[in-house]
This record gives sequence, structure tokens and C-alpha cells, in this order.
Amino acid sequence: MLARVDTIALDGIRAIPVEVEVDLGRGLPMLNMVGLPDGAVREAKDRVRAALKNSGVQLPARRVTINLAPADLPKEGSGYDLPMALGLLAAMELLPGESLRGRLFLGELALDGRLKPVPGCLPAAMLAKELGMTELIVPLANGVEGSLAGGRVVAPETLLELMRHLNGEKLLDPVPPTDWRKALEEEPRSGGSIRDLADVKGQEHARRALEVAAAGGHNLIMSGPPGSGKTLLARCLPGILPALTIEDALEVTAIHSVAGRLEGRSPLVTRRPFRTPHHTSSHVALIGGGGIPRPGEVSLAHRGVLFLDEIPEFGRSALESLREPLEAGDVGISRAARSTRFPARFQLVSACNPCPCGFRGHPQRPCRCSSIQVERYASRLSGPLLDRIDLHVEVPPVPPETLAALPSGESSAMVRQRVTEARMRQLARNGPGVLNADLDGAPLDRFAALDGESRELLLMASRKLCFSARTHNRILKVSRTIADLEGAESIAAGHLAEAIQFRMGGRFPGSG
Ligand SMILES: Nc1ncnc2c1ncn2[C@@H]1O[C@H](COP(=O)(O)OP(=O)(O)OP(=O)(O)O)[C@@H](O)[C@H]1O
Ligand SMILES: [Mg+2]
Ligand SMILES: [Zn+2]
Repeated sequence: MLARVDTIALDGIRAIPVEVEVDLGRGLPMLNMVGLPDGAVREAKDRVRAALKNSGVQLPARRVTINLAPADLPKEGSGYDLPMALGLLAAMELLPGESLRGRLFLGELALDGRLKPVPGCLPAAMLAKELGMTELIVPLANGVEGSLAGGRVVAPETLLELMRHLNGEKLLDPVPPTDWRKALEEEPRSGGSIRDLADVKGQEHARRALEVAAAGGHNLIMSGPPGSGKTLLARCLPGILPALTIEDALEVTAIHSVAGRLEGRSPLVTRRPFRTPHHTSSHVALIGGGGIPRPGEVSLAHRGVLFLDEIPEFGRSALESLREPLEAGDVGISRAARSTRFPARFQLVSACNPCPCGFRGHPQRPCRCSSIQVERYASRLSGPLLDRIDLHVEVPPVPPETLAALPSGESSAMVRQRVTEARMRQLARNGPGVLNADLDGAPLDRFAALDGESRELLLMASRKLCFSARTHNRILKVSRTIADLEGAESIAAGHLAEAIQFRMGGRFPGSG
């Protein structure tokens, strides 16, 4: 007797159909597994046996063969427990074979027969919809996540409950759909790591840079002495970014799903991610990878912000590995014979001190660093990385009289309004999903065209400051954003001048 059960494997954030075949044959009682199972899949044997036993089913004294097809695709993780158990039940004729047809199954089994959550239920739900499956079956804790794709989802607590559902003895209600649009429209609130611009005193220049960065999706680096407010400013960014669209929210959620980082009850990621990895994070934690390839911080920050505080501390090789995702908007993970890609279109925001002691260029306090120390610190930030950062901003110490006064700047909500409008202008002109920071080639030349006066100004600055071609283009993109913030159709000399000055600002380690 041969039974077939539909399930999935993950490739990046996509689910690929996999079929679990269970055959009961003659021969010595044993259980064989074929079709590239990894360690966790092979351990499924024991979990499945125990879960069945505790659901009142004894494995037959037969030779059991379980095949995972297609055979050339590696099968990873514990999500195959449930399809295997159901295949066994169908092969033993304890479930009608047709009850498995048109349904997609995914889940880990606890020894007592409960279903435990697994990564990848949203991609599975998207695949179920694409294939026209009538029902997706996932563990209870993954139910809401499974329902995000809009298809019919049933989320049982135990294997026994699911058996009754499939037998038609006691049908389970599908997970009710949730209206997520409301959650997406909700105002971001400050709290936890998110701060409000209303609390920032002074620092007009840095506030402006933050607004420009948010509006055009530009990367930003801030340099200044300890305590000047760099970390505070960076933590204001999430509050001024526009809301995610439902499509982007689903894509971000799929990444977090595959990473196994979603919360059960409200699994949709409705806020733009703000990731703050520590400088001691491993390469895999930052970029992604591992035995079962998981997204790293660069992908968890997709459509949001990757904040690298004290960026020179991250070490050269970690920073070098950011170049690919910064350029491509996604990141390749290869291991053994296979490679996969994860989306990684994030905005890089970073902070550093001008030197190891932090006081180089400070108006009152002397710098105690030797020139060798300064050089060594500077060398950790490579030219090519700084070249990929559009906005270089100096954050000077706040004068005592400003600190003593009440903060007088706008709130994050007010700034967010302008940022959202500037983004709408960009998307209408550049095309769906294309921010000014993403412009390149012909579209950049077309949308960021300069008039005679501006062209002259850029040429002069370019000669004097020896801009690379990349820097030249980055200045054009930032000018376009500054014009968009103002609602201007074309770039004026004033917009360009401000953009140039964002490239010269700041005492950067590495910028002499
Ligand atoms: N401009 C400011 N307005 C209001 N509070 C500020 C300002 N700058 C700094 N602070 C307060 O001072 C403290 C230190 O600021 P923050 O951590 O942002 O400094 P930093 O520039 O990141 O310093 P470091 O280089 O040491 O990391 C925080 O509690 C912050 O709230
Ligand atoms: Mg700081
Ligand atoms: Zn110093």
C-alpha cells in the first residue's frame, strides 16, 4: 500500500512542492528514509513513532519506506514529521487516501502527539494558494501566519484532532481571516528602542539628514563625539519612515517566517524592521547561512533599517560582506552544492566616533589618540563602503545652553508626513518600489537631470573634491530626494548644493 502526502521544502523564502511517499512492504520490520533527508528529518522517525503511539496507533510489523521527492532537493528541519505520520496512517488504511489530496501539510510532532510550530508557514500558504490547494494544515501556533496569504487554513492542536478532521468525524473550523490593513495604517509609537524626534535638542543638521535619508531610502553615517546624540537620532528613524504596503509586509513577514522569528498571535510584520546587531555578531548572524540556511540581519532588515552603531568595531570582513547586499538588494548564501538568495534591501544607518577616544575635532576637549591609532581606526571603514553611503553627517556636541532648554523641534509624526509625501512622488515617477536611492543608469540621468547652473556647480565640486563616479551619482540621487521633499519638479542649484554638502560633512575616520 502506497500513500502520498503533499508538503514543502524551502528555497530562500520560497516554498517548493515536495511529496512524501510512504510504502508498506514485506520484510523485516524497519523504517527506511530516502530522498536527501538531513539530520533533523532522520530523527523524525522516533518522533513520528512516539506521536503515533501516543495517539493510539501502533506501527505495523512491516518494512516501511519513506521517500521524499524530488530526491535532488535537500530536505531540512522538522516540518516533515506531520506529512510522514499522515502518510503512514494512510498506508495503514487508518485514513482514507483521498482525505490527503488537495491539502498541503507542514508541522513538527511532539512525542505526545501535539503539533509544534515550524518555520516557513507563510511561504507554504503562498504555495498552497498558487497550486490551488483546498486547505493548508499547519500547527495551531502557526495558524494565523498560515492565514496571511488569504487561503483556507486549518490549525489543529494534536495529531488526533487532525485525524478526526480528515476522517470527517469532527471537522475543525478554519482559521478566521484577519484584516491587517488597519494594523498597517496604525501610527508607529515610540517606546522600547524607538525614540521620537520631539525629544532631540538641537542637531538641526542631523535631523535634516535623517529626514532626507528616510525620504529617499538613502544610507547614512553619523560621526561625532560620545554623547552627542548619534544613537538617539538613529533610533528616531523608524518613527519617520512611511508605513509598509501590504505586499511589502507579506514579503518581510515571509523572511521572518523562514527565520523562525514570528510571534504566534500577531505574526504579520506591520512595522518596518529596525535591526541593531551588535558588533560581535558572527558572519552568519549578519549575512545569513548555516546548516539550514537562515536569513541574517541584512535580510531581517529588508524594507527597513539596519543600524550599525559603532560601525568601525564591526571589523573589516563583516563590513566588506555588506557590499553585495548594499549593491544588489539581496544576498547569496551558498553551501555544499546549492545556493540560495534572500532579499536584503535595507537602509544602512551607522554611527561612529571620529577617532578611538572620540574627541578628534572637538571644540573644547583634546584628542588623546596617536596618529597611528587614528589611522588604524580609520582603516576599518573601507573607502568602497563609505562610497556606498549617501549621507555623511557630522554630529557635533550639543551646546550646554541647548541642552538646558526644552526641545523645540518637530515631532516624528510631522516629519513622517513630509517623508511619506516625498516617497509617493518618487514612486509615481520612478516606478513601483523604486526609491531615489535605487535609481541608476538611464532612469537616474532622466529623473535627476540638472540645468546649466547646477551642472556647472557639480562639475566644480567634482573637480575640487575628486568625486568618484559612484559619489557623483549618489549626489544626484540625494539632490532628487531633496527636490522631492520640497515638491519640486526639477532639481535646482540649492537642492544640489545641500546634497554636495552631505557628502563633505563630517570628520570621518577614513575621510582625512
Ligand atoms: N541632542 C540631544 N537631545 C536630547 N538628548 C540628547 C541629545 N544628545 C544626547 N542626548 C542624550 O544623551 C545620552 C547619550 O546620547 P547618545 O547615546 O545618543 O550619544 P552617542 O552620540 O550615541 O554617543 P556614543 O558615541 O558614546 O555612542 C542619551 O541619554 C540621549 O538621550
Ligand atoms: Mg552611541
Ligand atoms: Zn581621539
